[in-house]
Amino acid sequence: MAITRTQRKEPIVEPSKTSARDSDTFDSTLRPKKLSEYVGQSTIKEHLIVHIAAAKKRDEPLGHAILHGPPGLGKTTLAYIIAREMGSQMRSTSGPAIEKPGDLASLLTNLEQGDVLFIDEIHRMRPVIEEVLYSAMEDFALDLVIGKGPTARSMRLDLKPFTLIGATTKIGSVSAPLRDRFSHNFKLNFYDDIEMEQIVERTASILDVHMEEGAAHLVARSCRSTPRIANRLVRSVRDFAQVSDEERISQNRVKDTLMKLGVDDKGLDATDREILRTIIEKFGGGPVGLSTLAAATAEEADTLEDVYEPFLMQCGYLQRTPKGRTVTRLAYDILGITLSEDAQRNLFA
Ligand SMILES: Nc1ncnc2c1ncn2[C@@H]1O[C@H](COP(=O)(O)OP(=O)(O)OP(=O)(O)O)[C@@H](O)[C@H]1O
Ligand SMILES: [Mg+2]
Repeated sequence: MAITRTQRKEPIVEPSKTSARDSDTFDSTLRPKKLSEYVGQSTIKEHLIVHIAAAKKRDEPLGHAILHGPPGLGKTTLAYIIAREMGSQMRSTSGPAIEKPGDLASLLTNLEQGDVLFIDEIHRMRPVIEEVLYSAMEDFALDLVIGKGPTARSMRLDLKPFTLIGATTKIGSVSAPLRDRFSHNFKLNFYDDIEMEQIVERTASILDVHMEEGAAHLVARSCRSTPRIANRLVRSVRDFAQVSDEERISQNRVKDTLMKLGVDDKGLDATDREILRTIIEKFGGGPVGLSTLAAATAEEADTLEDVYEPFLMQCGYLQRTPKGRTVTRLAYDILGITLSEDAQRNLFA
């Protein structure tokens, strides 16, 4: 069962996973293995410490958990950590990879007591498969229909107690019945600059890269508050330094690399700026609907919604309103565009 992802162009700053095996290995080398190594997300960690300790004391599996948030913030990493902290094995699959109810049944019946089943992109699971999951989650049982037509009969199969961990970038697309069956709902947030700096320093030390004073801070500020991008930036900076025979990474080397990659001092890349500029220049600052914006920027609507918009909103450059997307005054400021009278009226309406 292969994990499928839509193919699209992958600039360095795009936080999505690449299909390149090389990058997958890179990600897993840098993945923290214990909760104590996992930087930030302190509320989630505090809750997990309690729930994991309690579950262990009762000698029961941890309650089912759903992890959601933008790509590259550490959902898969956290799932592995939870399994490890519970002392459990983790089996991993993804929503679109489970094609038939039988696929899920075979995954579930092969789980051992206390195993973790990780379903990535759980919002992309087919409804017929979701229904099989309901009784598995609630009663640790599988309700199977055997045969067809009037001779069909249903059979209940007991499962060993397990923990389901679902991950999604689109919590709004997870059906309410499925969402309600998770005991824990953890939303991963963007990391602040101090946390990002710790992640950059951790990555640099694993890759044996020496960063001069201030260089890690510059990288941390430019990676869209996203660990996966921080990892890629550190690797790019290292490569540029290496071909210039530099042993240590200076601030200038970081600045030069960011410039080559088209990343500005706010951490915005060419696509971010293009999105904001399009809303301003073609739609008078908004509101503009998602599909219209996608057509105007030649990006997929899903990519805009899941990858670019969360960070632009987090920085306060973009707002989602019931009528569509609008830019804020800050967006005009960073692009150096003067507000027209019309736009001013819109912003303060
Ligand atoms: N809290 C963290 N502390 C340190 N490193 C982290 C943390 N979170 C993520 N990382 C790093 O970022 C990389 C990407 O994280 P991960 O693959 O878990 O993201 P994700 O949320 O599952 O993304 P996607 O939605 O694309 O599947 C990891 O390999 C790890 O090196
Ligand atoms: Mg993931």
